[in-house]
Amino acid sequence: MDRWFAGGRDDVRPPMFQPVRIGQLELANRIIVSPMDMYSARDGVPGDFHLVHLGSKALGGAGLVMTEMVCVSGTGRISPGCAGLYTGEQEAAWRRIVDFVHTRSDARIGIQLGHSGRKGSTRLMWEGIDQPLEQGNWEVCGPSPLPYSAVNQVPKELTEADLAQITAQFRHAAQRAARAGFDLLELHCAHGYLLSSFLSPLTNKRTDAYGGSLEGRLRFPLEVFDAVRAVWPADRPMTVRISATDWHDGGIDADEAVEIARAFAEHGVDGIDVSTGQVVSGERPAFGRSYQTPYADRIRNEIGRKYGVAVIAVGAISSYDDVNSILLAGRADLCALGRAHLYDPQWTLHAAAEQGYSGAGVRWPDQFAAGSRKPQTGRTDGPRPRLELIRTGVPGTAHARWRPTQARP
Ligand SMILES: Cc1cc2nc3c(=O)[nH]c(=O)nc-3n(C[C@H](O)[C@H](O)[C@H](O)COP(=O)(O)O)c2cc1C
Repeated sequence: MDRWFAGGRDDVRPPMFQPVRIGQLELANRIIVSPMDMYSARDGVPGDFHLVHLGSKALGGAGLVMTEMVCVSGTGRISPGCAGLYTGEQEAAWRRIVDFVHTRSDARIGIQLGHSGRKGSTRLMWEGIDQPLEQGNWEVCGPSPLPYSAVNQVPKELTEADLAQITAQFRHAAQRAARAGFDLLELHCAHGYLLSSFLSPLTNKRTDAYGGSLEGRLRFPLEVFDAVRAVWPADRPMTVRISATDWHDGGIDADEAVEIARAFAEHGVDGIDVSTGQVVSGERPAFGRSYQTPYADRIRNEIGRKYGVAVIAVGAISSYDDVNSILLAGRADLCALGRAHLYDPQWTLHAAAEQGYSGAGVRWPDQFAAGSRKPQTGRTDGPRPRLELIRTGVPGTAHARWRPTQARP
C-alpha cells in the first residue's frame, strides 16, 4: 500500500511523510497543527507565549503550523485575549514568529484570518467559553439579529456599508499577513463566526441579496474570499475552513457542504479544511474517533480531485495509524491535529520514531537529535525493552529503536 501511495516509485514511506502541495506550496509532510486560539494576546498582539507555542510546534516536525484565528479588527475578536492583525505592532509581532519558524525549522506557517461575528465579546476559554464578558462588552454583529444563546447579545444586523467595511478589514489584514511572511492564508468560514454565520440558514435569515438561497448565503463569504485573494500573493495558497454540518435540523448538511466547497473551488481556493458545527448552541454533534472525516471524504472525492483542491481532515484524529489510514483510503490529502499537539508538540517526530522511519519528510532539529530515540521506560520489574536494528526496506534508513520484549507467559 505504501508503495502504491508513493505512485509505484521506490520512495516508500509512511503515507503521512509523502510530500504534498497546497496550491504551489510544497509541504514536507501531511501533518498540520490545527488552528488553536490561545486567548493569550494583549491588545491583539501575539507575545512570547505565541512564539514558544507555535515555535515548538514547528520544531516538532509538522509540515504546516497554523496560527489561531487571527482577527481582522478589535471588535472582530472573540475575547480580549484573541490575537489580531490590524495594527503595525501586531504585524511586527507576527513577523517575529514567522521568521523563527522559517529560520529554525522545515515547517511552513499559515495564518487563519477571521471575524468573531455574533460569537464575539466573550470570555477567555477557561473563564467561560461563549459567555459574555463581565464588563467591557462591545457590540457584536451578524447577518441577522439572532443571539448565539439566551445569554449572548442580540447582534447588530449588518448593512451593506458595514459589509464593505469588514471586507476592507479582511483585505488589509491579508496585506499585513503577506508582509509578515506567512506561507498560506486560511479564511475562517466555520464554527459560527461571522463568515460561517452568513453560510448557515439557521443564522442567516436575511431577505436581501446576502441571504436566502445558498447562492445568497455564499455571497458575502465569497466577496471576502475574492477581496483577500486579490491582494494575497498569487503564488501563495489560500484555504477555507468550513463547518460541513451544523448538526441541527434545517442547517447545513453534507450535501450543502459539497456545494459550498464547489463554490470556493470555482473561486480559486487551493484547499478546504473540513470541520463541523459550533454554529448554533442547540447542535447535537455525533462525536467519536475521526468523526468529521466522512465530510472531508465526500468533499475530497466530489470536489477536491476534480478541481485540484487539497482537502484537510480534522477532528479527533490522534494516532499515526489513523492518519495513514485516512490518507491511504483517499479520504483526505492532509490531516490537521489540534489537541494531540497540545499533548505532544513533537507529535510528528514521535510518530516517525514509532514507525521506525527517519527518512525524507521528517527531520529532528540538530539541537534535539541526541534525543531522537525513545528512552528506556525505567521499569525495573518485568521484561525490559531491547534495542534492535530495524531495517525499513528503504536504502540507507536502517536505524535502531527500542522494542518491547515479548512478555513471558
Ligand atoms: C484550545 C483550542 C482552540 C481552538 N481554536 C481554534 C481556532 O482559533 N480556529 C479554528 O478554526 N479552530 C480552533 N479550534 C479547533 C481545532 O482547530 C480543531 O478543529 C479541533 O480541536 C478538533 O481537532 P482535534 O480533535 O485534533 O483537537 C480550537 C481547538 C482547541 C482545542
